[in-house]
Amino acid sequence: MNIEQQIEKLREQINQHNHQYYVLDDPLIPDAEYDRLFHQLQSLEKANPQLVTADSPTQRVGGKPLEAFGKITHQVPMLSLANAFSSEELRDFDRRVREKLNVEIVSYAVEPKLDGLAVTLMYENGRLVYGATRGDGTTGEEITGNLKTIPSIPLKLYGSVHPAILEVRGEVYMPKKGFEEFNRNAAAHGEKTFVNPRNAAAGSLRQLDPGVTAKRPLDIYIYALGQVDQGALPDNHTDVLHQLQEWGLKHSPLLDCVQGVEALQAYYEKIAGLRSALPYEIDGVVYKVNDYTQQAIMGFVSRAPRWAIAHKFPAQEELTTLEDIQIQVGRTGALTPVARLAPVFVGGVTVTNATLHNMDEIERKDVRIGDSVIVRRAGDVIPEVVGPVLAKRSTDTEKFVMPDSCPVCGSSVEKMPDEAVYRCTGGLYCAAQRKAAIRHFASRRAMDIDGLGDKIVDQLIERELIKTPADLYRLDLQSLAGLERMGEKSAANLIQALSDSRQTTFARFLFALGIREVGEATAVSLANHFITLGALFEASASEETLMAVPDIGPVVASRIKHFLQEPHNREVINQLISDDIKIHWPDPEKPALQPFSGLIFVLTGTLQGMARNEAKQQIQSLGGKVAGSVSAKTSYVIAGDKSGSKLDKAMALKIPVLDEAELLQILKNPLSLSDIQR
Ligand code: IVH
Repeated sequence: MNIEQQIEKLREQINQHNHQYYVLDDPLIPDAEYDRLFHQLQSLEKANPQLVTADSPTQRVGGKPLEAFGKITHQVPMLSLANAFSSEELRDFDRRVREKLNVEIVSYAVEPKLDGLAVTLMYENGRLVYGATRGDGTTGEEITGNLKTIPSIPLKLYGSVHPAILEVRGEVYMPKKGFEEFNRNAAAHGEKTFVNPRNAAAGSLRQLDPGVTAKRPLDIYIYALGQVDQGALPDNHTDVLHQLQEWGLKHSPLLDCVQGVEALQAYYEKIAGLRSALPYEIDGVVYKVNDYTQQAIMGFVSRAPRWAIAHKFPAQEELTTLEDIQIQVGRTGALTPVARLAPVFVGGVTVTNATLHNMDEIERKDVRIGDSVIVRRAGDVIPEVVGPVLAKRSTDTEKFVMPDSCPVCGSSVEKMPDEAVYRCTGGLYCAAQRKAAIRHFASRRAMDIDGLGDKIVDQLIERELIKTPADLYRLDLQSLAGLERMGEKSAANLIQALSDSRQTTFARFLFALGIREVGEATAVSLANHFITLGALFEASASEETLMAVPDIGPVVASRIKHFLQEPHNREVINQLISDDIKIHWPDPEKPALQPFSGLIFVLTGTLQGMARNEAKQQIQSLGGKVAGSVSAKTSYVIAGDKSGSKLDKAMALKIPVLDEAELLQILKNPLSLSDIQR
């Protein structure tokens, strides 16, 4: 391609993007990409001035106004701003200004650069007569009805003395919060969402029906004057904005006036630091020579004033290729699709991965593997794929299909009809879910394995000493003693606690399995209804038989079915009740006497006639609980020889204390316990 053809191609591209952006409110590419094309055309034309034509996009601003709105001719053209992307470009700007003005140091008005839509408001004798968009800079669309719906635009100015003709310009924007709410709502109703708050603001102002605009949370900051007649205003920008604010036309609260280029740089950094906390989107800061006489000396180039510049932040949206979509399995078994991207510099860092949230998002956005996609990274937020650039889609892109088995453990994947997420049903078996599954299994209300804290579980999993809860019962002293923060004594205690935990109840065992939606109450219902594990296994083949249990609806039934029908889970359960491990619970046919139910015992000191563990098992078989420490909830403390601090604490809390003889007595004749007063 020769230079002339290159220039022509760029112009065609830019015109198309202008049309998409300004006329259709539906940009195909991120701003940064557009800026690059524009910049490329500008430099080619600069190097070849003989090729510049009057209809080149560099010679005008924006695109054609929409036909449906009335047209307004701007008496004072609505200009754009030149951009600086680095501190070098900023220094060049300041140097040009100082040289032209022949001064040492310049006073600048400084403001954030809002990311919304530029509008002009015409006030005659203090009343709003019309409002319009920028359009092509000379002719815009009349959108008075829509602008009037924005509460922060005064229909009548405050005060009594204003210029007879007062035209002001500003940026209409949609605050981040309102934007998110709007999109959430639109998505919930299956309606079109906006890719960013700027498009949302533009789209809202382009509504033919002001009733629609009125429902959108829009706001405005005023940042410039247009036509002014018959009336005096201050002679510099900041004073004018303060005056306008008194009349009800608000400017950015971050407006300031500073001297010299170092202060400009400092302002840039300050605002960059505030950016993510601001309630609206900004994409840079704007510096303007403050003094109007000095502005007039500087004058204009075709597209922008020479007395102002926009210092842009690194782009937060960029274009790249979606190379693959992979699945990450979280600790709750949720399968999250993650985009693998061709590396791209966005929001100040190189991004290679971005979240796609879930399958619904992928379908709603219609992203496919191989697509050119817009990637967004704002502040510290996790990078995300905004959407594909359909105009760039080639024929060999591939739709993503959610796998039907877990990429980590191979267990089947389920999706509840009322949920967006897909989940691995591997539960106890899936490496991604192991830590969470084991922690739950060992917890106090489940298998109650004393001494198996989170830190120990983490180490056991990380060192691959265990994979499933069944492996817990195969641990020996030697492997436990090798762990951090685990002495021989605590290792021995843990082995003992594991052994103790094998005596449990059917309900606790079911709860310990960690089936989603099966809490303690549901576990008790299941245990009471099915009585045996065999019966439950059999019933789990169909949701209907499960729903015969009181309080179990279709969602819970489906969860139980998936879990118990998953072969990996069956295998772990069978191991737990096998002869090797022997987790067991009282035979339900002849319900055991539970006279101690609701009581909490604490054992302390050495018992002469029986092992402490034996005492514990006997208490538990009578329905009592044995706790490790004394608290106000403790019912009785059993004190053997050499009882220490637990006994002291029991005394202090006035908790009844039994000796070994009394223990033996109540174990033999549980009802005699009521003779001992609390
Ligand atoms: S001054 C003659 N100040 O940025 C100067 N513009 O890229 C006119 N913008 O069309 C613009 N915040 O839509 C100015 N504080 C600010 C601004 C601002 C956002 C927008 C405005 C303008 C565009 C230029």
